[in-house]
Amino acid sequence: MMSVYRLKSAEAVASERAESKGAGSGTDAMRRELRGTADSVVKLRNVSVQYGSSRVLDNVSLDCAPSEFLVLIGQSGCGKTTILNLLAGLLTPSAGQISVLGETSIKARQRMAYMFARDALMPWRTAQRNVEYGLYVHGVPRAERSARARDMLERVGLGVCASMYPWQLSQGMRQRVALARTWALEPQLLLMDEPFAALDAQTKVKMRAEFAQMWERSRPSVVFVTHDLTEALLLADRIMVVKAGRIESETIVQFDRPRKLEDLVDDVEFRKMERELRSRLE
Ligand SMILES: Nc1ncnc2c1ncn2[C@@H]1O[C@H](COP(=O)(O)OP(=O)(O)O)[C@@H](O)[C@H]1O
Ligand SMILES: [Mg+2]
Repeated sequence: MMSVYRLKSAEAVASERAESKGAGSGTDAMRRELRGTADSVVKLRNVSVQYGSSRVLDNVSLDCAPSEFLVLIGQSGCGKTTILNLLAGLLTPSAGQISVLGETSIKARQRMAYMFARDALMPWRTAQRNVEYGLYVHGVPRAERSARARDMLERVGLGVCASMYPWQLSQGMRQRVALARTWALEPQLLLMDEPFAALDAQTKVKMRAEFAQMWERSRPSVVFVTHDLTEALLLADRIMVVKAGRIESETIVQFDRPRKLEDLVDDVEFRKMERELRSRLE
């Protein structure tokens, strides 16, 4: 199993970015190219967010390439959700530039989906109608909404629950409905804020694996927030550690996919990366 990885300081990342305009060769140059500015799905440039006198994000720059799975990890309150809210166009920065899918985040909304830790289903709508709602917002015609919602519920194993209401479903099932709703939109960019955090340990492992499998089939770009290191290493192409409103470091993760927790827990590189990331978080 291949397990190449790199851990770099923010300074190294910045100087590499500066260099990347010059010549380069080999895999590193290709990676820089991939993460370069031209075809990035997400571009944050020197973005700051200030609430009164407190600076929540301080000069953050990041890119997400097409089909890249980018994970942001960091302690509670470090600014992870704020970054997602900026990308979703729910928040405007105090300084800096943002581009999403080649346009402003507000204009790009129709092509992205945002999934939260809490399922945020509408209690007065059945599972089927909750999934349809996202499609409705995105302007999908009624007949197609119904068929696509049904299909997505089948795919997350909830075909038989289509006519049930959220209160009739377990937390895990509700989060599956939310996943179906998100996926039904066929987003080019998926924003996910600790989507599995509220689930019990077993359900979390199962849903994460199902989600990874779905992602591997169509590979939309993902910006995924978690504070779970193992989850980050299982899913990410690249992990950025956010610390007190800044990008502290960046790690490229290249374990073969599909990644199985059972295989990776005993992998020396995996354990080493986990240790190093943990020390960076502290
Ligand atoms: N609307 C707001 N007004 C003032 N402070 C806020 C607001 N939203 C978030 N914050 C603060 O910004 C910081 C980062 O929040 P957030 O991005 O939610 O962190 P994370 O998702 O990493 O836990 C926190 O200290 C939080 O209290
Ligand atoms: Mg948060």
